Amino acid sequence: MSELFKRTHMCGTLNLENIGENVVLNGWVAKQRRLGGLIFVDLRDKTGIIQIAFDDSTPREVFNLAQNLRGEFVIGIKGEVKERSAKNDDLKTGAIEIAARDLTIYSKAETPPIYIKDDDNVEDNLRLKYRYLDLRKVKMQRNLTFRHKITKLTRDYFDEHGFTDVETPVLVRSTPEGARDYLVPSRVDTGKFYALPQSPQLFKQLLMVGGTDRYIQIAKCFRDEDLRADRQPEFTQIDMEMSFVDVDDVLEIQEGYLKRLFKELMNIEISLPLPRLSWKEAMERFGSDKPDTRFGFELHLLNDVSSVAGTDFMVFKNAMDNGGDVRGICIDGGSKEFSRKDIDKFIEAAKDYGAKGLVWIRVEEGELKSSVNKFFSQEQLREIASEFNAKAGDLILIAADKAKVVFDSLGFLRRHIAGKLGLLDSNKFNLLWVTEFPMFEKDDETGCVKAVHHPFTHPMEEDIHLLETDPLSVKADAYDIIINGVELGGGSIRIHDRDLQSKMFDILGISKEESELKFGFLLEAFKYGVPPHGGLAYGLDRMVMLLTGEPSIREVMAFPKNQNAQCMVSEAPNVVDESQLEELELNIRK
Ligand code: AMO
Ligand code: AMP
Repeated sequence: MSELFKRTHMCGTLNLENIGENVVLNGWVAKQRRLGGLIFVDLRDKTGIIQIAFDDSTPREVFNLAQNLRGEFVIGIKGEVKERSAKNDDLKTGAIEIAARDLTIYSKAETPPIYIKDDDNVEDNLRLKYRYLDLRKVKMQRNLTFRHKITKLTRDYFDEHGFTDVETPVLVRSTPEGARDYLVPSRVDTGKFYALPQSPQLFKQLLMVGGTDRYIQIAKCFRDEDLRADRQPEFTQIDMEMSFVDVDDVLEIQEGYLKRLFKELMNIEISLPLPRLSWKEAMERFGSDKPDTRFGFELHLLNDVSSVAGTDFMVFKNAMDNGGDVRGICIDGGSKEFSRKDIDKFIEAAKDYGAKGLVWIRVEEGELKSSVNKFFSQEQLREIASEFNAKAGDLILIAADKAKVVFDSLGFLRRHIAGKLGLLDSNKFNLLWVTEFPMFEKDDETGCVKAVHHPFTHPMEEDIHLLETDPLSVKADAYDIIINGVELGGGSIRIHDRDLQSKMFDILGISKEESELKFGFLLEAFKYGVPPHGGLAYGLDRMVMLLTGEPSIREVMAFPKNQNAQCMVSEAPNVVDESQLEELELNIRK
């Protein structure tokens, strides 16, 4: 066994102030090169990389040992910090190096199958298979450390505000949260299954019934849904619930938390209170319930503009006659920026969101060009352009359809085009609340009414009288926190009245038997005294992704799943022994 060199410093923490000090470092060889009688080694640990120099002044046997070093060998170094003659500005420690006095090799390494460098270009599955190598990258360690800082600050803040960290079970009953459940077969009770929780929702409400008053948990959640950049089957929520609160109380606590988070971890002052947009306003102005407000291009309704209202252009007329909308966005400088080909691509992209087409207008000093010059006079086009306060060089894109299609397609386009124009500045953080969500929505396929949030969400007091007569117009005491167009978290005030809860189930077409079966334990608990309560959950992975400016939550999780929900490191899911299946009395259908 080689002697363990007791570390005095971490590689990335040394700087000019340490010159002259004798230090002991441990880490991995990131790079090794020879220049005549010199050997340079880049030594890496989780804090960064520093250059180690071996030269004539290095003891002979140490120099000879250094000649054997290869990439990813794990070594210990003793030496003196010196100022570097040729400084490397790319490296944080580039002004200094360590003149080696002693060296030990803890373990040798084969050539790694992936290139360990922050700006690599390794195929995703290979990166995930060798995640432990990928994690050696300074950037990945920085992300994990940052995530740790968030969870620490979170625990501190909520502790100071009277929250108790409570763990809820992971083997639970399947509860309805919208996504598909992961199931775990029971051995003791064969033929029956646990579900992994999609969130601790029902248990945190039971904690309120249990008198916990304020609960927090950094909780693993499991949802069997299609993966995206900001979705993983297994993810983490910062989950909480509070008793005796209304919407304002919940949001105030959260705003204090977000302010502290941004101040302490990002050195960014956010001003409070955060803007609150009603769901309706968010949709009408941004075409989205998660509006990105880092740029403009807001939607404008054109139904009442006289040249649109009175038009014979069938696309607009049909949409309006069918109760739909004609809305548009105006892209500043878009006409100068985008070719006809670009515009055609925008139209194709909008079709993925249900749009049948888009009308475009290029605003010019002289004649306005558009896809509808046949149907609209110059004067009429000018009237439309003036609705947007458009100036020469701008591009107007208009969609006509039922409201949902218009919102979805324009909401998508405004962000898509802002991206093309480089307006999605990841150093800028726009936070806002979206509130007053609709309580219910109509399922397009079944025609049934379903809950937008979950069936325990409290309707807004002022709308309760509409529950039976006009449920689709009832708004909910629900809220989402949005950062830069991403839903960071969401929650609601819950129903604590059994009669109101039954009414909700009626509207949702959930029978007494079904509600008994699915959430009987919650309804039972509500018989014995329930405080008014509400809460919220943040997606921790999304939070870290947004604050580190990463494009995907995979970059901020130690061992994420790949596109097919596989763990490439442990090769899960996988087959199990026949005997395990037998114990569970399970057969695999061919
Ligand atoms: P919701 O379903 O909105 O609410 O989830 C809360 C937050 O969790 C994050 N999130 C995800 N992150 C990564 N991968 C996923 N698959 C994923 N799904 C959700 C999002 C989201 O905003 N029980 C309620 C909260 C409450 O009402 O208190 C709930 O789970 O950032
Ligand atoms: P057409 O009469 O089909 O040639 O369409 C005239 C213009 O209307 C074209 O620029 C189409 O892209 C556009 N268009 C078609 N359907 C819609 C729609 N639902 N909303 C907005 N523009 C549309």
